[in-house]
Amino acid sequence: MTVTIKPVDPVGRAFFAGEVSGVDLTRPLSAAEVEAIHAGMDRYGVLVFHGQKIDDEQQLVFSRALGPLETATGDIAAPEDRRISMDLNDISNLDKHGKVVPRDDRRRLFGLGNQLWHSDSSFKEVPAKYSILSARQIPNADGNTEFADMRAAYDALDDATKAEARDMICAHSQIFSRGILGFTDFTDAERVKWAPVRQRLVRKHPRTGRLSLYLSSHAGGIEGWPVPEARAFLRDLNEHATQRKFVYAHRWAPGDLVMWDNRVTMHRARRYDHTQVRDMRRTTLTNEVSSLEQAP
Ligand code: OGA
Ligand code: MN
Repeated sequence: MTVTIKPVDPVGRAFFAGEVSGVDLTRPLSAAEVEAIHAGMDRYGVLVFHGQKIDDEQQLVFSRALGPLETATGDIAAPEDRRISMDLNDISNLDKHGKVVPRDDRRRLFGLGNQLWHSDSSFKEVPAKYSILSARQIPNADGNTEFADMRAAYDALDDATKAEARDMICAHSQIFSRGILGFTDFTDAERVKWAPVRQRLVRKHPRTGRLSLYLSSHAGGIEGWPVPEARAFLRDLNEHATQRKFVYAHRWAPGDLVMWDNRVTMHRARRYDHTQVRDMRRTTLTNEVSSLEQAP
């Protein structure tokens, strides 16, 4: 089989999402297939694979073929309450017995933070590179995932804003992003574990050389700026970067697997009927270095 990638919607604005065919993710990939996928990620930023009915082990084998993974240290569930291995992020509304969690469950309320535009693990010193999300079971409506192209958003800034943003350093923390939704129910240990980390606002992709805006709901400050001024500025940038012309909305089908490059995109979950099962599992490649090492 040959890996083929075509734009999801060549006439529309979804030019940064590619649809991949000719690959079976239940089997080990050849070196050529791995390289084709990396090349596709460089070109698009989001890749969509349909009809991939994989289990956790197959998802891990596929993911590790692309690079080293991070572990789910950003999850709020206690280890004894986890449903799946620490090598995968549990992006579901299920408890360890496979039951839908109640509406006011702490894990669910924390997870609602995924509905804010973000880049995965930007709250870790070494953030995420690719995220790989597999849809195992989905609600019968809603629950899309939206992606925004941060290269296009950067390119569309005026020159003065590009110059101003170029060397800015932001502080990122899950405490900030959850605070936006009024979730403040953190233990002292969580506050220590998720203390703010530093990330560049403008970063350069090591393979393509393209610049992108490294925004995320986790960003709650800019070094050297008063907090309200920083947050107002970041809000403006987020509004600019998530205009519909920069956005691809993915409507899930069971067996879909979507992979995105967190260096060049943001994403967010959309709401759905919380009484229905939504079982998604994410593996995440580590960026291996901080964004601080990816200056323009
Ligand atoms: C994620 C995420 C969005 C969704 O898996 O990192 O933000 O739609 N998911 O579940
Ligand atoms: Mn995410």
